[in-house]
Amino acid sequence: MSTAGFETQDKFPSRITPYVVACWIFAAFGGLMFGYDIGISGGVTAMDDFLIRFFPAVHERKLLAKENNYCKYDDQNLQLFTSSLYLAALFASFAASKVCSIFGRKPTILVASVFFLSGAASSAAAENLWMLIVGRILLGFGVGFGNEAVPLFLSEIAPVEHRGAVNILFQFFVTIGIFIANLVNYGTSKLHPHGWRVSLGLAGVPAFVLFIGSLVISETPTSLIERGNEMAGKMTLKKIRGVDNVDAEFDQIKEASDKARLVQHPFKNLLKRSSVPPVVIAICLQVFQQFTGINAIMFYAPVLFQTVGFKDDASLLSAVITGIVNVASTVVSIYAVDKLGRRKLLLQACVQMLICQAAIGGILLAYLPTTGSLTKVQAIFVVVLVCLFVMSFAWSWGPLGWLIPSETFPQETRTAGFALAVSSNMLCTFIIAQAFLSMLCHMRAFIFFFFGLWIVVMGLFVVFLLPETKGVPIDLMEERVWKQHSVWKRFMD
Ligand code: BGC
Repeated sequence: MSTAGFETQDKFPSRITPYVVACWIFAAFGGLMFGYDIGISGGVTAMDDFLIRFFPAVHERKLLAKENNYCKYDDQNLQLFTSSLYLAALFASFAASKVCSIFGRKPTILVASVFFLSGAASSAAAENLWMLIVGRILLGFGVGFGNEAVPLFLSEIAPVEHRGAVNILFQFFVTIGIFIANLVNYGTSKLHPHGWRVSLGLAGVPAFVLFIGSLVISETPTSLIERGNEMAGKMTLKKIRGVDNVDAEFDQIKEASDKARLVQHPFKNLLKRSSVPPVVIAICLQVFQQFTGINAIMFYAPVLFQTVGFKDDASLLSAVITGIVNVASTVVSIYAVDKLGRRKLLLQACVQMLICQAAIGGILLAYLPTTGSLTKVQAIFVVVLVCLFVMSFAWSWGPLGWLIPSETFPQETRTAGFALAVSSNMLCTFIIAQAFLSMLCHMRAFIFFFFGLWIVVMGLFVVFLLPETKGVPIDLMEERVWKQHSVWKRFMD
């Protein structure tokens, strides 16, 4: 698969035309779908109507909540409802990388939208648990296809000088999707008995926008040229750049595509010694991103807030507040990432996240016994700490977990390496989604110290093993970054 889209090169002539902006926004709806799916399940699994219909045992336990605060939602099937999506996405992302290289980015996004539409329909109409799970799996296929193609599409279609910001547009739309899902859940929790159907079915709206968008957007020049369609590639380049003088950029894409075509097995190339640094970094960043514990909050925020003593409505409202914080703080990263650099953002966030996790764990340990609840002031304090935690994640590990793997691989392994990053993310998201409620039940407040420990590890990783890549042209990564690094230079020839 060609990887020219991620390349940093000299500035080429371009204008930001309404059409190219429309392409970015339509494609970013893939991120919005991902975010909507992340955000919707927590609220739905906290709705009584939903639990009574599909998980009556959990509902009964919830009524006896006074007996055990930490275990009321611990149910493997309930967690499977949330996590099955990510397992499906994990497998789909490998298939998607093939479709993406053989047929192009545009058809891959189209396929994603069809999966999203059918998944939304199936889960909204679910009459039994299996229909519900089938719906989740279809949505998961959508996420696998969307997350593979959309960041790649955005990077390839953006003018070089805006590539970082356009790449973060994906994460920005993820956070908007989560926020909208929280709002929707807040509203539908009052609609009895079918509010949950509305929550799940409304995913069809952004899916439909993505479907229409996938017909409107153009294929990327890189994909067209790579698949031998040079004339169309050049015309598309003129259209999306808004200028006629695209020869230099066209030549560079062509050269990169010719080179990339020589590599028959990009995944095999990832086993080479010189691939170790970017592979380790891509996998670790995604694993660490998930083991910050962010999705314990994103998936289960309403459940978590109920655990500390909020009523259904108040807990959903608190989840809406964390959603707003998430969106707003992502904007900070768009501005800060190329000024402060990646390492500073990641390290600052480690400190802030560690303090928050330790404080939340400490409060729950001291004041939330197995039965009973926090006082109002204590519970509000927990919400504030959760917001501070989400804030620091949103300007660091959130966007950079996607950005850094896209800028550290050499050209011949760039998209294969990126697929590895996507699948690592899905695997860890699945693990957290499947395990969190059981972990909460067994570890109680200590679960926050568990995530805190991971944050210490990831901080040390950044200090010792993550070089700064701000402002380094991608093709000079080996010379300027790996060969200068005390550990990674040993892997270079
Ligand atoms: C992560 C998701 C997470 C989201 C939160 C993304 O970068 O991959 O797992 O839920 O950020 O905003």
